[in-house]
Amino acid sequence: MDVNLGIDVGTTGIKVLAVDGSGNVVGNFSHPLSLLTPHPAWAEQDPESWWEGVLSLLQAVPRNMKVKRIGLSGQMHTLVPLDKDGNVLRNAILWCDQRTASQCEAATRELGGEERVIALTGNPVYPGFTLPKILWLRSQEPQIYEKIAVCLIAKDYIAYKLTGALGCDPSDASGSAMYDVVRRRWSEPLLEVLNIDKKLLPPIQGSFEVRGRLREDLTRKFSWDGVEVVAGGADNAVSALGVGVCEEGDCMVSIGTSGTVVGATAQTASDKTGKLHFFNHVLPGLSYYMGVMLSAASSLNWFKEKMGRHLTWDEIEKGIGETPIGSDGLLWLPYLQGERTPHRNPNARGVLFGLSTMSDEMRIFRAIMEGITYGLRDSFELLRERMPIKRVFLVGGGAKNRIWRKMLATNLKVPVTVPAVDEGGAYGAAMLAALGGGGEVAAVKAWVKEASATDPDAADYPKYDAVYGQFKALYIDLKQRFDAVAGLNG
Ligand code: XUL
Repeated sequence: MDVNLGIDVGTTGIKVLAVDGSGNVVGNFSHPLSLLTPHPAWAEQDPESWWEGVLSLLQAVPRNMKVKRIGLSGQMHTLVPLDKDGNVLRNAILWCDQRTASQCEAATRELGGEERVIALTGNPVYPGFTLPKILWLRSQEPQIYEKIAVCLIAKDYIAYKLTGALGCDPSDASGSAMYDVVRRRWSEPLLEVLNIDKKLLPPIQGSFEVRGRLREDLTRKFSWDGVEVVAGGADNAVSALGVGVCEEGDCMVSIGTSGTVVGATAQTASDKTGKLHFFNHVLPGLSYYMGVMLSAASSLNWFKEKMGRHLTWDEIEKGIGETPIGSDGLLWLPYLQGERTPHRNPNARGVLFGLSTMSDEMRIFRAIMEGITYGLRDSFELLRERMPIKRVFLVGGGAKNRIWRKMLATNLKVPVTVPAVDEGGAYGAAMLAALGGGGEVAAVKAWVKEASATDPDAADYPKYDAVYGQFKALYIDLKQRFDAVAGLNG
């Protein structure tokens, strides 16, 4: 059977999907990854652990499957510095790492202020983006910086290991803070001011252009023949393709480790306020606005891991469903790793507010689920100000939870659709592989089927609106305190 493979280099794991020519998933393989946190709010991984995971999953693909092409998707912004021989120089610094606030401020100043930065690249410089990590290495680990021959983003490292070829695509370059999203090329004026050699950045090619052929030794190892690897893209853009979000007004909400709200657009104007990211999609001519929460499902997982190990997810879902909206006065600010949208504050932290003698674990679980939902609502409201939304797809672990689907639809005040195949970036990556072989966008889009649609519950609007108002006010009240405490912990 002929198949395309989609590989997703995620934060909590690597996934490989085998997809046949009609879009059916005929193989599904995954490998867990762990996160290294050497300091609070730092986040690193060893790229070799991604590669070992990819190799073990490719090995698991049944031999009766004839692999034609491989497409890639990966965590965005994550910096992998390589030396001139292609060796990884240090652990990758991840998208959710918050160490670079001072590098962001200094770069913005040197470039002439935020308005100028947005004019050059389409976005402000955020601590999670790739550029400030390079600047951090230059000042904090100069012995490593001096050896850098090329800076890659996560999935491009895997493409390099598969093919030996270096490159990046527009969707991942968009999140680097060194790429001009409107003109679709590395921003030379920015690189010049910051004194970064353009040679450190790989060439850019379209997301479904062929990066190269699978290396000879791997071709022999897996007994495959002439497999091509296509460039791939940033996980949010590839996931958006994977659920058919590829036209103006289509929206995807993803509740995974991070929470994202993506709105596809043919517009070429970035968000001048810098609150929403403005990035290129994996389809030519298309872009998207995106709001990003750094700790979405991960805050719920965190609480379960620390305090709720004795409960199953089914018990938690049932308990949350039986708990009133607002958890009798409990609010959760879901900022365990700081926050991007809408606060742009690496110093923000998680807050559980309003504890009383009535508070119990289910009320806390509900408050956390609501807090994540309100965070997504913050991004969705910004998106709705920019563009009319035609339809909303919900993906990620949160989409599997009935209570959460209803909570989200009611908060966004729109129906939310869950796709039949929800495999993160891996499915979209297999679509990119099919497009790389000459497939039509309309044909791969027709692979997407709907599993369920959830309508909002208008009767609950007033209750949610009231709690959401308190949620927003609580952050404003605490903002200065977050900064002061971050100063203490220096
Ligand atoms: C988006 C972002 C995250 C990662 C997760 O800007 O940082 O959604 O892409 O892998």
